[in-house]
Amino acid sequence: MGASASEAFARESHDPALVERARGVWAERVHTEHRSAQALARYVHELLAVDAPRPEIEAALDMVRDELRHVALCEDVVRALGGQPGRPTPLDLPAPEAFRRAPAAQRAMGTAISMLVVNETLSVGYLDDLARRAGDGVCGHVVRAILGDEAGHGAGDVPLVERTLAACSPAERAEWAAFTEACVRPHLRRAEDALAGVPPAERVLEDEPAHAALGLFTPRRQALVLARTWRETLRPRLVALGLWAAAVP
Ligand SMILES: [Fe+2]
Ligand SMILES: [Fe+2]
Repeated sequence: MGASASEAFARESHDPALVERARGVWAERVHTEHRSAQALARYVHELLAVDAPRPEIEAALDMVRDELRHVALCEDVVRALGGQPGRPTPLDLPAPEAFRRAPAAQRAMGTAISMLVVNETLSVGYLDDLARRAGDGVCGHVVRAILGDEAGHGAGDVPLVERTLAACSPAERAEWAAFTEACVRPHLRRAEDALAGVPPAERVLEDEPAHAALGLFTPRRQALVLARTWRETLRPRLVALGLWAAAVP
């Protein structure tokens, strides 16, 4: 895209304060896409270490390629918004001590749950909500391009997760359920905090065209979309996998 992306974006037709916010949000998206590429590249290594079936390793390699494309797409948006894209710090992907010491099979399973099942499902929820509203400018174009890839990343089956859980003892399965809860809770808590002062009657998806045109959410809409994705997609999926107790909301 490059120059054409900047041309396609008429900065003066947007609220300057919102453009500034968008510049920050899209710069942060460059970072998270870079982190996704790093975590999935590491996942390829983990899959090789457990001698996973070749199609699963190749699928993970394809995902790394997709994430690198997302980095470039988000960089295009930052530039179109008049910003200068960068890289996350520290540049090296942080890996907690416990993660580094765990056997490859556990690292692979941890990555599959946190990245593919939880994070990808939630990000598809956000992207899907934006895709239809973000218009024909560079932001809408990029949101839809990323959505097309992400929908294939974690939305389908993740054979490694199903295979691992099938071979687990009940105690091990309970540990993976606790791990899953630790991945999910911060997202749910953030949404609850954003909705804390909002009366139930106002918890509706409001139209926010000025935000959507820049690929942004208002905090309220973002929290409501998260809650919806959790209720309709992620929670049922985790319950079906045995990673979430059906009795727990
Ligand atoms: Fe991505
Ligand atoms: Fe992805």
